[in-house]
Amino acid sequence: MGSSKSNSFYFQDKLRELRKEDLYRELRTVEDISDSGKGNSVPNVINFSSNDYLGLSKNAFLVKKLRNLITSRISQCSSRLISGNTESLENVEIALSEHRKTTSSLLFPTGFMANLGVLGCISDKETIIFSDELNHASIIDGCKISTSKIHPFPHNDMIDLEKNIKKHDNKRKIIITEGIFSMDGDMADLTEIVRISNENNCLLIVDDSHGDFIIGNNKPKDYGGTPSYFGVNKAVDIHISSLSKGLGCFGGYVSCSKLVREYLVNKSRPFIFTSALPDYLAEIAIMSMQLAKMGDLQTMLYRNIEYFYKIANELEIKSRKVEKSPIIPLLIGSEKRALEVSRKLLRQHFFVQAIRYPTVKRNEARLRISLNADHSQEQIYDLLNHIVKLLKV
Ligand SMILES: Cc1ncc(COP(=O)(O)O)c(C=O)c1O
Repeated sequence: MGSSKSNSFYFQDKLRELRKEDLYRELRTVEDISDSGKGNSVPNVINFSSNDYLGLSKNAFLVKKLRNLITSRISQCSSRLISGNTESLENVEIALSEHRKTTSSLLFPTGFMANLGVLGCISDKETIIFSDELNHASIIDGCKISTSKIHPFPHNDMIDLEKNIKKHDNKRKIIITEGIFSMDGDMADLTEIVRISNENNCLLIVDDSHGDFIIGNNKPKDYGGTPSYFGVNKAVDIHISSLSKGLGCFGGYVSCSKLVREYLVNKSRPFIFTSALPDYLAEIAIMSMQLAKMGDLQTMLYRNIEYFYKIANELEIKSRKVEKSPIIPLLIGSEKRALEVSRKLLRQHFFVQAIRYPTVKRNEARLRISLNADHSQEQIYDLLNHIVKLLKV
């Protein structure tokens, strides 16, 4: 039997509310927003909403390698602790530990699950988690399942963070922040966060899904993400990241001490009770890391970022500049208006997603522009010129 009438009303009412508030979401296929030219889609759409910052997901060498890798099975069809573990999964964990300068790493099927998997088991009722108010939904949900007390702190407000941490001297304390923030594109003040964490005996977790392989230390170039950019890798107790962004691959991971890894393997439910990441993805991730570490793609990306700000400045488009961050939010405010501008841009062959509540606060809707290494300057120029016209209307 299908759902009862009262259940149908429940769902219909909730959906109606979302529509009324301009918060209704719809799925689009990749074909709709890419170069397909089929059906009802707009042909030749340029995607400015992808996290494939280095363009590695479409790298011809990697795609060919992947075809050769899938020879005898599609999935291990088991969790890692049963019969899903393979050498390639362990090899990528070794490579990720070197990359993050930790002693070990643990893969999760996605970055979202890595956050749930860590936060769900590393604390108890006696712990307080201090979480930046702009942290990603997976961090917020991880906090919710943790049973700990959660103290959200105003975005990057180090004075508030320190003041409140000091009030809880006798408690176990965890600080969690993103590295490059996913919806704002700015960076956590990791120098200050590390100082506060060290002085107050906290455990520090940094989710650097958007900075990983994009930024890092220049001497030598390591693209080790935000902790590396600030030179604080060793002070971060647990690094969390995604393989589905800078690396253009798929999966999530945690880099940490051997002890924490051992604990996660024993206690982290999103690790224990789910199927292992297909091992060919791990092999592709290693190759992708090698390509990312060469640095050419980042050079192209940084050039695009600089060019974007130059043109935005000439056109007097307001945007806060964050050097080397591929995420550029253009704040619109009203959800309705953000949707309207995004829809009009799509008609002009540019896909820029309107980001609305609950991803960001109410009335802080925005166009979130993601720059990739393979965008051309002409595409960036055209996008900004269309945006400036639409914003004036
Ligand atoms: C900061 C942050 N953490 C985690 C995730 C989830 O990563 P994944 O897409 O691998 O699940 C995202 C996704 O956008 C993110 O922005």
